[in-house]
Amino acid sequence: MTRPRFITFEGIDGSGKSTQSRRFADHLRAQGQDVVLTREPGGSPGAEEIRQLVLTGDPDRWSAETEILLFTASRRDHLEKTIEPALASGQTVISDRFADSTRVYQGATRGDLRNMVDQLHTLMIGREPDLTFIIDMDPATALERGLARKSGEDRFEDFGLSFQETLRHGFLALAHAHPERCVLIDGNRTADQIASEIAAHA
Ligand code: ADP
Ligand code: TYD
Repeated sequence: MTRPRFITFEGIDGSGKSTQSRRFADHLRAQGQDVVLTREPGGSPGAEEIRQLVLTGDPDRWSAETEILLFTASRRDHLEKTIEPALASGQTVISDRFADSTRVYQGATRGDLRNMVDQLHTLMIGREPDLTFIIDMDPATALERGLARKSGEDRFEDFGLSFQETLRHGFLALAHAHPERCVLIDGNRTADQIASEIAAHA
């Protein structure tokens, strides 16, 4: 039996991660795989509670340092309660965001906090995905799409366009730094075109 894979989707807000992670999960299920589709922040009851704390309210509600602690706490719970048990039982896990989001959103936007992010990751998480799709796209279009949803969870969208541009560069740098697991996907296309490129990695 092949080892079950841990697959993540990353990218700026509104880039199409939720759409594509759902479609990839459907594709793998149609091939007979047992798939757990999950997301961050969240993916377990405790982590979903932390999600509410970090995604609502004023942009300056939390400092970047406090966010690192909150996102890492939520990830630890998600890992313990959802990801590791699923992989141990042979299921494929697809997560809409994981540690790369903390590396970029908290590590590279409001000062260089990457070292702090990395240290906490080593101490508390210590796991990387087998495969990561980084969906790259124009931040202005992505921001329009994201805000049009009116989800009430727009704390990061509310930082504005230049923040999304910084994020985009952060994700591109990660894709180049980790070619062994990251696949860069052009998100400026139809959902069908993107899904068929991603499906080729099944
Ligand atoms: P994310 O999870 O990255 O925030 P979503 O998958 O939720 O992105 O997509 C954001 C919005 O854009 C949704 O309303 C979705 O239906 C729409 N959308 C997703 N992919 C595309 C695409 N390729 N072209 C146009 N609209 C898209
Ligand atoms: P998500 O629900 O995926 O938002 P979107 O659909 O807009 O992409 O993620 C929620 C927000 O949380 C998103 O703006 C990114 C942010 N985030 C971090 O800042 N750090 C993290 O570690 C994670 C997982 C998410």
